[in-house]
Amino acid sequence: MIELRDLRDEDEAILFQWRREPEVDRWMSDADFPSQAAHAAWFRSLREDPDLRGWMIVSNGAPSGLLTLTGLLSHHRRAALNWFIGSAEARGRGAGRAAQVLGLDRAFGPLGLHKVFAEVMADNDAALKAQAAAGFRREGYLRGHVLKDGAARDVVMLGILAQEWALLRTEARSALEKAQLIGVDVYGS
Ligand SMILES: CC(C)(COP(=O)(O)OP(=O)(O)OC[C@H]1O[C@@H](n2cnc3c(N)ncnc32)[C@H](O)[C@@H]1OP(=O)(O)O)[C@@H](O)C(=O)NCCC(=O)NCCS
Repeated sequence: MIELRDLRDEDEAILFQWRREPEVDRWMSDADFPSQAAHAAWFRSLREDPDLRGWMIVSNGAPSGLLTLTGLLSHHRRAALNWFIGSAEARGRGAGRAAQVLGLDRAFGPLGLHKVFAEVMADNDAALKAQAAAGFRREGYLRGHVLKDGAARDVVMLGILAQEWALLRTEARSALEKAQLIGVDVYGS
């Protein structure tokens, strides 16, 4: 069962470890690994800065990854979604797909956003598949947009609007509920 929970003090260390995993780092556009101090400041901001929210992705009770929304104070009522499954054994088992649906429910439910968007490296098949399955639409293609380890990488821009999620969420949730990946609806429709 996949859940999102609020961050706790003890999550700082595991998030630092996951951020350094090669399979996570290869899809991140940041120039370098963050220092411990930069990581601590970022972790604090995830819990204290009203412009950001971060949740631990929990798989059968075990911390497995992170989902964040950035830019919540924008007057456009849109935010960028970022996520990763940091624990290698939890990848490829539906946790990412489930976490994303739970994240979109928070974004369009309690947080009242109008749009959620994401920038994904063009060869990140797992992320693109999961985001398309949740209803993200492709909005643009940015050539050589990111320099990663000295190489220029293409980026796909994705977005989903509140009214699109309203039409998709029941089906998206019930598929995950049937697969016993998520529990019953908390926020209702
Ligand atoms: C992207 C990510 C969050 C997806 O989470 P996940 O739990 O591994 O993915 P899921 O098991 O929910 O599967 C999602 C889809 O991707 C597919 N998939 C999973 N791993 C894949 C891989 N390595 N290559 C291709 N497709 C893959 C699944 O088959 C599934 O598609 P389907 O529903 O059509 O079967 C996770 O793989 C991850 O953390 N990757 C590294 C960091 C990252 O890329 N973050 C996103 C940055 S934008």
